[in-house]
Amino acid sequence: MTAKVIDGKAFAAGLREQIKLQTAAMIAQGITPGLAVVLVGEDPASQVYVRSKEKQTRETGMNSFAHRLSAEAPQAELLALIEQLNNDPAVNGILVQLPLPAHMDEAAVINAIRPEKDVDGFHILNVGRLATGQKAMVPCTPLGCLMLLRDLLGDLSGKSAVVIGRSNIVGKPMAQLLLRDSATVTIAHSRTRNLPELCRQADIVVAAVGRPNFVQGDWIKPGAAVVDVGINRTDDGLVGDVDFAAASQIAGAITPVPGGVGPMTIACLLASTLTATARANGLPDPEGLTP
Ligand code: GUN
Repeated sequence: MTAKVIDGKAFAAGLREQIKLQTAAMIAQGITPGLAVVLVGEDPASQVYVRSKEKQTRETGMNSFAHRLSAEAPQAELLALIEQLNNDPAVNGILVQLPLPAHMDEAAVINAIRPEKDVDGFHILNVGRLATGQKAMVPCTPLGCLMLLRDLLGDLSGKSAVVIGRSNIVGKPMAQLLLRDSATVTIAHSRTRNLPELCRQADIVVAAVGRPNFVQGDWIKPGAAVVDVGINRTDDGLVGDVDFAAASQIAGAITPVPGGVGPMTIACLLASTLTATARANGLPDPEGLTP
């Protein structure tokens, strides 16, 4: 069996078109969504991501506000900037690119963002709201994975899902979103025993461990849906956390790297910015952009 290869690039392009239309409708009502992106330091990968986020924000018709701080900036300077953005009515979403320099306290910085503007969904209040089934801002990468899975499988209720990785950015919120859709969820990590056996029982495998080709083909149940969140730079170029060549012979559907989950992340950031703008203006949540 050869798996269907999930075209995240095309799905994300479609999503951006939808967001563009919804943004235009909002602008016609006199509301222009605005996203502020803050980058501290010169990490090359972060610079690439941030530029891409800013470009796509503008292409969607939203306002993009770029802020750059030096790697040596004191934390107080970043907190003062966040406070200014919290109070700026033109700014509906605030994204502080991670990782931050070592002298900064990541949790303190994230929790300084007004939860309503926290388009990353990393603020402790949004984490709690997601976990308790309340209206939350939801992390972009897991939201993108959920959209792909729902598009592929429809109702996720009763499906067994294994999420490999327990990060705050992907693994934990991914598990919460799947649980919210009534999947039976296992969170696996570096200390998990019998991971291959666990995976073999799963209808859905989400790999977010950051280890190239970690998930082997024979870990996959025939016909399962495999979502690969990994972006690993190797001598062979960009590879995911799943051995794609082997897994795609067994899975029912699989996301490639690149061109799978990656493009969904920024599209979902734009979706969340639109959601935050709607909520700030007392409008209903935009259609199809929230979990
Ligand atoms: N660094 C890597 N992924 C992310 C993300 O989703 N959001 C932010 N703010 N930083 C990141």
